[in-house]
Amino acid sequence: MNATSAGRKNIFSFLISALILVFLFAVCKIATIHAAPPNPKPDAAASREAFLQVYKVFTSPRCQNCHPFGDSPLQGDDSHVHLQNVVRGKDGHGVYGMRCNTCHQSANLSGEHLPPGNPKWSLPAPEHKMIIVGRTPAELCRQLKDPKQTGGRSLPQLLEHVSTDDLVGWAWNPGTGRTLPPLSRADTVAQMKIWIDGGAACPQ
Ligand code: HEC
Ligand code: HEC
Repeated sequence: MNATSAGRKNIFSFLISALILVFLFAVCKIATIHAAPPNPKPDAAASREAFLQVYKVFTSPRCQNCHPFGDSPLQGDDSHVHLQNVVRGKDGHGVYGMRCNTCHQSANLSGEHLPPGNPKWSLPAPEHKMIIVGRTPAELCRQLKDPKQTGGRSLPQLLEHVSTDDLVGWAWNPGTGRTLPPLSRADTVAQMKIWIDGGAACPQ
């Protein structure tokens, strides 16, 4: 083989590779153009509908017992006022001599009517109580969009809080004798995402 034919051979294989690349690129392009859009953006009606699902979870006893209207936590599936005169205090962890962790340990104690537990067990601080008890769907919806009431959290941050926060997660592992929220955590997060993606529309 002389130098010229080796050169031709190189040019030839270069051209073939280039053609293959162009072809592959075209195939990919066509595939993306024709692929169905991943998930069409939910509209306002779907957003409102999803919020009503989220609302059912928020107003379930497992969530609202720590988000009362007053300064006493609530207990049980009937959301009665916490016994022993327990109150929120300055930081949400109760007052001197009646701190939450006097009775609430870092995990649930097993057995009916024994204190549930989590390392962060407390009410929200008085500056952002996130009252859930007694709120209508429209009221709660507007409240979640008001950073003054969410401790400065934006909607994506609230979504993050509900998907990953350990204390929120307790609601789905509440210990003996307590009912679960009406939707699983994954479904709650999915509905919350639809609500936000559709513009966080509020029910009337
Ligand atoms: C043991 C008490 C407790 C339970 C149970 C609980 N929360 Fe909370 N929640 C808190 C505390 C404390 C904060 C404030 C935490 C922070 O700022 O990091 C909070 C904050 C929030 C916030 C953010 C608003 C804000 O002001 O920070 C939302 C939303 C929320 N909770 C929803 C829920 C939902 C939904 C459930 C049930 C699935 C739930 N919570 C169950 C104590 C509780
Ligand atoms: C003197 C002990 C004691 C103290 C202090 C205490 N708790 Fe409790 N708490 C209990 C017991 C016991 C239960 C379980 C009651 C039951 O299941 O009937 C309970 C249950 C609860 C529940 C109900 C959970 C549910 O969904 O049913 C909440 C909410 C709660 N406590 C919040 C608090 C908060 C917040 C503090 C601090 C501000 C606090 N508790 C301080 C003893 C205490």
